Amino acid sequence: MGKRLICQVADVPENGLKECETGDGLKLVVANAGGEFYGFQATCPHQEVPLCEGLFDGATLTCHMHLWQWDVRTGEARGIAEAPLQLFPLAREGDALYLAAAGGALDVGELFNGLAGRTLEALASLARPEAHAKGATLYRPGDPADDFFVLDAGRIEFLIGRGERSAPSGFMLKKGEVFGWAALLDGYPARIASARCLEDSRILRINGKRALAVLEQDSQAGFVVMRRLAALVARYLATSGVK
Ligand code: FES
Repeated sequence: MGKRLICQVADVPENGLKECETGDGLKLVVANAGGEFYGFQATCPHQEVPLCEGLFDGATLTCHMHLWQWDVRTGEARGIAEAPLQLFPLAREGDALYLAAAGGALDVGELFNGLAGRTLEALASLARPEAHAKGATLYRPGDPADDFFVLDAGRIEFLIGRGERSAPSGFMLKKGEVFGWAALLDGYPARIASARCLEDSRILRINGKRALAVLEQDSQAGFVVMRRLAALVARYLATSGVK
């Protein structure tokens, strides 16, 4: 799905909020944080309260009903808030703001491509882009498996074992492929391999629990992703010689 017009830049007051609706009915709130614009869900994740009526100081949004708070730049919960804010990536072109095209690397890969626009946008809003230099280690055995990753550019290799006794697993990735998928599975709280950049690489980091919460809202997409994930795990086991 391509970009969709949200509003004019001049519609959103400096350090203020505006509720907007796309032509196909998606409601969101746009915040003007010192000239930077951020889009997020229109209603509070606590109860069905419009967030455009909240208090905004240019960085932190406070829902006026029970005072949950978020950083609108990251969606992270602050203070007593128990859930993050779902962000929608925006793109500015001239005097207008658009909902950025969903997906990027997410829409290329075998796990998420072809999902409904809103689900892909919700997943994309969770993705944190990171750049890592050649030789950087992304995780080691025993590290917490909270996040999974989508490769946007570069090459990643996986090593089985620890320290001097580690050896390449023979598993190579291309753009859009997912790794660290233990974060999407029950019962795998820690890494069992190392992931290392074979060249300068860009990745998207996505929290597994938050992605699963998005997929629970779209059971059809959730089924498709889990079926693809099962195929991906089976391929990994075949490649690594594990039956
Ligand atoms: S409805 Fe927003 S904090 Fe309770």
